[in-house]
Amino acid sequence: MKDNLGCFDWSASFYDETRALPSGLYRDICTTLKETVPLSSLMKSLEIGVGTGRIAHCIANAFSTDVYGVDISQSMLYQCLQNPAVSETLALIAADGNHLPFKSKFDLILTSHVLHQVKDHFHLISSILDSLSSSGIYIDLNAYVDHEQSLPFKIFYQRLLEEGYRHYFKNDLIRKGLKVFFSQRGWGYRETNLKRSYNITISTLVRFLKNKVFTHQRQIPEQIYEIGLKHLYAELEVRNVDFSKVVELPAYAQFLFFTPPPKR
Ligand SMILES: C[S@@+](CC[C@H](N)C(=O)[O-])C[C@H]1O[C@@H](n2cnc3c(N)ncnc32)[C@H](O)[C@@H]1O
Repeated sequence: MKDNLGCFDWSASFYDETRALPSGLYRDICTTLKETVPLSSLMKSLEIGVGTGRIAHCIANAFSTDVYGVDISQSMLYQCLQNPAVSETLALIAADGNHLPFKSKFDLILTSHVLHQVKDHFHLISSILDSLSSSGIYIDLNAYVDHEQSLPFKIFYQRLLEEGYRHYFKNDLIRKGLKVFFSQRGWGYRETNLKRSYNITISTLVRFLKNKVFTHQRQIPEQIYEIGLKHLYAELEVRNVDFSKVVELPAYAQFLFFTPPPKR
């Protein structure tokens, strides 16, 4: 089983393909940021766990400002650097978000699909609170295509269920906890949900499952995984599924905006 760092070092080269969003959703993310965050080009923002920069790039686009991106995985940062259109808008730093290497404060800090990756997400949150300016805003964003709604994923995970494997999404629980945590401290809170659709072929979805690209958080035992895959191939054949068929899946961007109490 790969640890968190190992997982992203391993997945860096194919991360962008598996986490791609519809271009319209990227535009909506920029617009929502612009409309919700009172940020000027002089202000400083940071994404912790910036990865390949797909979200930090939206912040830079929305505010035409340099955005700092911190990540613990050199391979993810290297991958980000391979795309100059993204990396040139970002100042990238290899560091652990729990121990941020900055003296100055930020007006905006964003996390996206990171809190569930760290051992103690409250540790990361306290590092974020320490690094925000007194009027600084914190955003946690979920931005993903819901592959679970596709036929191959449904067949695969239904078989795993029959084998006794159940998955819960730790990130959803953490996000619920965030709302409680911040409101208990007097912070304002606002939620914005965006939805678009994303086209993908059956063969790409099957390849994702075959290559185990989403399995790290799920910790699925090897033997059960193989049973699921065998069943998937058999079932797709019985149903005579056309692998080149393009299916439409929902894609979401779910923002949690936290704004500080008047005197922090
Ligand atoms: C699922 S990826 C998300 C990347 C990006 N935020 C996005 O939404 O595409 C999680 C990222 O968090 C990074 N990460 C995990 N633990 C971290 C830590 N303690 N400090 C900084 N980055 C971390 C990983 O290396 C990985 O690049």
